[in-house]
Parts: sequence; C-alpha cells; structure tokens
Amino acid sequence: MNLEAAVRRYFKTKGLPLQPALTFADVAIKDNFSAIDSRSDIKNLKIRLAGEICLNMPIVSANMDTVTDSRMAIALARLGGLGFIHQFFSLEERIKEVAKVKRADNALIEDPVTILNTATLGEAKERMAEYKISSILVVDEFSRLWGILTSRDYRFQYDDGLLIEKIMSWMPLVIAAPNITRDEALKIMDKERIEKLPLIDNRGLLKGLITSKDILKEKEFLQAVRDRRGKLMVGAAVQLNADYLAEAEQLLKAGTDVILLDVARANAKRVKEAVQKIKSRFPKAPLVVGNIDTPEAALMLIQAGADCLKVGVGPGSACKTRETTGVGLPQLMAVVSCAAVAKKYGVSLIADGGIRSGANLAKAFVAGADAVMIGSLFAGTDESPGEIFQDEGRRWKMYRGSASAEHQFDRMESGSLDGMRTPEGVPRRIPYTGLVKSVVEELLGGLRSSMSYVGAHDLNEFWKLGKFVWQSRSGYEEGKPQS
Ligand code: XMP
Repeated sequence: MNLEAAVRRYFKTKGLPLQPALTFADVAIKDNFSAIDSRSDIKNLKIRLAGEICLNMPIVSANMDTVTDSRMAIALARLGGLGFIHQFFSLEERIKEVAKVKRADNALIEDPVTILNTATLGEAKERMAEYKISSILVVDEFSRLWGILTSRDYRFQYDDGLLIEKIMSWMPLVIAAPNITRDEALKIMDKERIEKLPLIDNRGLLKGLITSKDILKEKEFLQAVRDRRGKLMVGAAVQLNADYLAEAEQLLKAGTDVILLDVARANAKRVKEAVQKIKSRFPKAPLVVGNIDTPEAALMLIQAGADCLKVGVGPGSACKTRETTGVGLPQLMAVVSCAAVAKKYGVSLIADGGIRSGANLAKAFVAGADAVMIGSLFAGTDESPGEIFQDEGRRWKMYRGSASAEHQFDRMESGSLDGMRTPEGVPRRIPYTGLVKSVVEELLGGLRSSMSYVGAHDLNEFWKLGKFVWQSRSGYEEGKPQS
C-alpha cells in the first residue's frame, strides 16, 4: 500500500488540506440536500466495534479510574454502547468488575452469589454489599441449596454475630429446573409472588438463579448490547507492563467481550510485539489497541493484528501530553490520518479524547471514526466512580488524567508504579450532570440532527456523504451562542 497516496486521497475526499493540521473547531460539516424529514427518523446508530462485536450506539467510555467501573459499564451496555473497565484496578478487581456486569440484568444467572450455611449475618451483609444485592442464596460446601436470606429475614436483626441459619428462610423454597424458559419462570414467580427462582438440578445442586427484576430489565433495555448468552457486554483493559497474556486469558474467561491494550505511546516495538502475541494466543478475541495518531502507526498495528485502533494523543480534557512533550496531532487530523488506513483494511477506529460537544462527536464520525471514547463528559454522572461534593453552591465530581501526578501518586502508594514521572495529565472537577443516560441522549440527539442535515440514514452513510469545509476562527466564533 502506498501510504502517502492513500492518505492524500482520503484527505481530499473529506475536503481537507493535508497541512496545516486541523482539529474539530477548524472545520464545519457541509450540509446536503436531504430527504430526511426529522432526526427522529434516524433509528439506526449501529456500528461494528472490533471483530464481530457490534454496538447499538457508537459511544464507549474511557478506561479511566474516574470514569469506568462496572456501574458505568452496565449503564452504557444497557444504552447500546460499551464501557472499558480500567487497567488501574488489580487483575482480581477487574475480573470482579467484569463479573458484576455479566451478572446485571441477566435473567439467568449461572453462578449466583451464595454464602455458606455456617456464615454469620455480618459476613452475609458484607457479601451482599460487595455485589449490591439485598438477598443471598445459602448453600453448603457441596453447592446444595439450604435456603435464602432475604431483607425480610434480617431487617430487624442488629447482631452481626448471629448465625444466618437462625434467621434465613429454609428450604423447601419454590425452585425450578435449570432448563426453564424465561416466560415459564415469570409465570411461576407471578403465581407464587416471589422475586427469585433458584434453579436446581436433579442431584439437588444449585445451578442458577432467575430474578423477576432482571427479566423485566431485559425487556426494558431493548437497545442493550448482549453477548450470545444474553449477558451485557463489557470491555476490559490489560496492562502492557504486566503479564498481559495471562491477564487477557483470565479476563476473557471471566466473560470480557473486548480486550483493550491501552498505552500512552502505542507506536512502539513493545506494543507491536504484545499485539502479535495476544492475537496469536487468542485469535478470536476482539482486540482494541491505542493510542496512536499517525497513518504509519495505524498500519503497523493493523498488520500486527489489531481489530480496532484507539486514536488520539493529547486531545483529552485532562491531558497535558502536548504541553509537556510537544508531541500529539490535532485530533481531527489524527482521526482522518488513521481512518485513511483503517478504512482500507476494514478495521474499526475509536476517536478518543476531545469530545466536548455533539459537534465534535459528529465531526469524528465524518472523519472516519466508528465510535468515540468519552472521559470528561461522563465523569460528572451518577455512574462514574467517586463521590459528589459541594463547592461554590454547585455539585461536582473529580476527574483526573491517568498520567496526572495525583493518579501516579495513588499508584505508587498501591505498589503498582515504581516512581513518579513528569505528569502528562491534570485533575479537574466536573459539574455533576446526573444520569449518564441523559448525557448520551443529548449527544445522540445532536448526532442524529447532524446526520439529518447531511441526509444520512445511518453512520456508514454519514461517513460516506459527510464532507468538511475549513473555517476561520471568526467563522467558528460566529456559530457559538452569544452570552
Ligand atoms: P476526554 O476529552 O473525553 O478524554 O476527557 C478522555 C481521554 O483522555 C486520555 N487521557 C489522557 N491523556 N494524559 C493524556 O495525555 C493523561 O493523563 C490522560 N488521561 C486520560 C484518554 O485517552 C482518555 O480516553
């Protein structure tokens, strides 16, 4: 492939000059004659993210410790997107977070949370708090079901040393066989006025659990992205500096749908080797790799075996990489340059960082992204990790760059970083914005509207029809509301 010629041609089809390197604010999307009456006519925002993994909406959350743990991943998967569990958790914690996503909204839980019949109320409460559940199945060491401890059983019990066998609801409970259908289960639960139906095999061993709440959730979140077994999808990051093959193996075993190899500088020999090793050991596992910002790096990662490229060096709202190092291309240039290669090879691309508005989101898709990764816009939501705090009469949440001094300090304290490096990120406070669903809806509303201006019914058409015009600074300023 003549890389230079391919990139030059791609830039031309997008209506962009090769130099100077432009970014989102430097361009506007040209509108077209459109046969779309209303943006609500645009129903299809599906994309292919990596390998065979498709999403129902093109937004993923950043693998940052102030953005994505299981709570964010669950919320996004319900909306049709995907969350990437960050690599700053220990491997055990990442596996647990993946398990929480896999357990959520899943009417058929194959490995329900249980507690031994010899446990105390305090132990049971601790386990229930860990998994955010209000009742727990009680089993013996052979996985035989003894009963269930529900909130009704322990509501007025204040002695944590009490043995649960003294207060739990004992067998016989209403149970069913493991091969029961969801509809049959719902009928039984309705008739018996119960919310949980343990599944027991013919040897009396616990094989699963169906909850009415989860059946109703399955019906509520029709856009949700689910794996073949009906569980919500989730991505998880592996660490380049650890035994990434062992990490990938265990995360895949836990049910992770997409593996992410994320390093600040992915245009590197070590990353190339890691991608080759991961793909040769797990050829079928969808692999996202980043971050990069040049067509040469895109070609290198594609040839090494990446299924999806994560693009963006320093555009993020908590990034200081460009200020510290002088390296990093303006994000529109980075996305267009890498898309020129990715599109040729049929490999997907995530535009990562710098999405501050619906306009940037739309421009990223016209440039050639298949999905966008979002950090700060999600960091102020209910579902991001961390507490809400009050200051100056407003509510806030903290957001911090993964290479910020504060983040590095925490990693040094936990023993996962050997020494401080010059910070390439900063901490910021972000206004509290409520549910992530409302942020997503606003972004998608803007995207649909943009698509209707261009006359595109889906994102592939949007990319094909969408062209840019270069705009002056005053042109950009003109488009902003006056305050
Ligand atoms: P937004 O703009 O959505 O960007 O907040 C999220 C992305 O920012 C990247 N990131 C960093 N980049 N130094 C950097 O140069 C950092 O400390 C840092 N932390 C996060 C990351 O790609 C994320 O998805």
